[in-house]
Amino acid sequence: MITKPDIKTALPGPKAAAIIARDAKRVSTSYTREYPFVMAKGEGAVVEDVDGNVFLDCAAGIAVTGTGHSHPDVVKAIVDQAHQYLHMSGTDFYYEPQVALAEAIAGIVPIDGEVRSFFGNSGTEANEAALKLARYSTKRVNVIAFLGSFHGRTLGSLAATSSRAIQRRGFGPMMPGMFHAPYANCYRCPVGLKPETCQAECLGFVEEQILVHLVSPDEVAGILVEPIQGEGGYVVPAKVFHQRLRELTATHGMMLIMDEVQSGMGRTGKMFAAEHFGVKPDIVTIAKGIASGLPLSVTAARADVMNWPPGAHASTFGGNPLSCAAALETIKILQNGLMKNAETVGAHLVDRLLALKEKYPLIGDVRGKGLMVGAELVRDRVTKERATTERDRIVQEMFKRGVLILGAGRNALRFAPPLVITTAQIDTIVDIFEDALKIVK
Ligand SMILES: Cc1ncc(COP(=O)(O)O)c(C=O)c1O
Repeated sequence: MITKPDIKTALPGPKAAAIIARDAKRVSTSYTREYPFVMAKGEGAVVEDVDGNVFLDCAAGIAVTGTGHSHPDVVKAIVDQAHQYLHMSGTDFYYEPQVALAEAIAGIVPIDGEVRSFFGNSGTEANEAALKLARYSTKRVNVIAFLGSFHGRTLGSLAATSSRAIQRRGFGPMMPGMFHAPYANCYRCPVGLKPETCQAECLGFVEEQILVHLVSPDEVAGILVEPIQGEGGYVVPAKVFHQRLRELTATHGMMLIMDEVQSGMGRTGKMFAAEHFGVKPDIVTIAKGIASGLPLSVTAARADVMNWPPGAHASTFGGNPLSCAAALETIKILQNGLMKNAETVGAHLVDRLLALKEKYPLIGDVRGKGLMVGAELVRDRVTKERATTERDRIVQEMFKRGVLILGAGRNALRFAPPLVITTAQIDTIVDIFEDALKIVK
């Protein structure tokens, strides 16, 4: 088991530099590459670049490779399926892996009663399907989402996304009927309260403003919410926030749509983050970690909600057989110990980060569940001025020392390693974070 990075060349090394130069000429300029890592191979939580440099992975391909890179059981399931057939399109034909996966999802997703699943290829598609389904089933058009949220980049999901203005700039007008409210960011409470004693007063913006001044509750199809905000900064709301959202949506016949694209599939130590809040949504969207790296998304819904007619919604590649086979194996692996590992190693990670917070004033807040952990960096703990350049510098310094890590929000670091990561590997990552803090503080 490799527990330490091994950086042998300058970064990028010569082979990486050559590939990056080719990329610069031919690949879309819209991608955000934080540093020059060029993947050659990976195993578990360890990745190697094309020059033979070995890194610890604290990003998991943006919270995707929960079972680790190329988990042998997942690879075998994919290869076995590939030998049978690669594609048949669940839109027009049947195949057993897709049925088996729908059954498995019905068994794990926190939705009350009977459950049906729609299959797509990406998180944004899962949310598109959820938005369409909410409109279709309620015969209402409006949706409420939250500031700081990320739901994807296709035009429907993009209307809900409000993480960074650059993601929307130049693409308007957005899909009409979308309203945004402040998210329950307890470190920066939008109404100045403390999470221990609050009753989710931030929802007053929805109840007293949006639903009073802007849109009638009986014209709102649903509320779309991340149980833990991912791209927005790994923000964990108070439990009462989600519980009150559930009450509010039930009272007005709105769909509660939980976007578990980043927080789902064991990442938080439970299969879905909604379970931490004791809430059962009507629709749950899933992608990223579900198939260990193969493209797959699921929009799971109450069966009485997902009763649209044939032809209403479909996708040629959605739920393709290879991804379904990978997902079935992924679910087994998560249940056979990985979720537990996420919980245990995640708790250790939080303890270690809290200890660093005692030493380094730059760390303003440490929060998270399982291995979905954020550290928000501030220049001043009282004013909470965002340490944006410092955060970016830390990401670079950690990369130089052999850790792949990404930021989240304007000034948080996200610790989202593969769920197979060991305590020893996490310790190395935290030690390297401390080395970076010493330079940047
Ligand atoms: C919560 C959430 N929803 C949706 C998406 C969009 O997923 P995709 O990039 O697969 O479309 C993301 C991606 O980061 C996400 O974090």
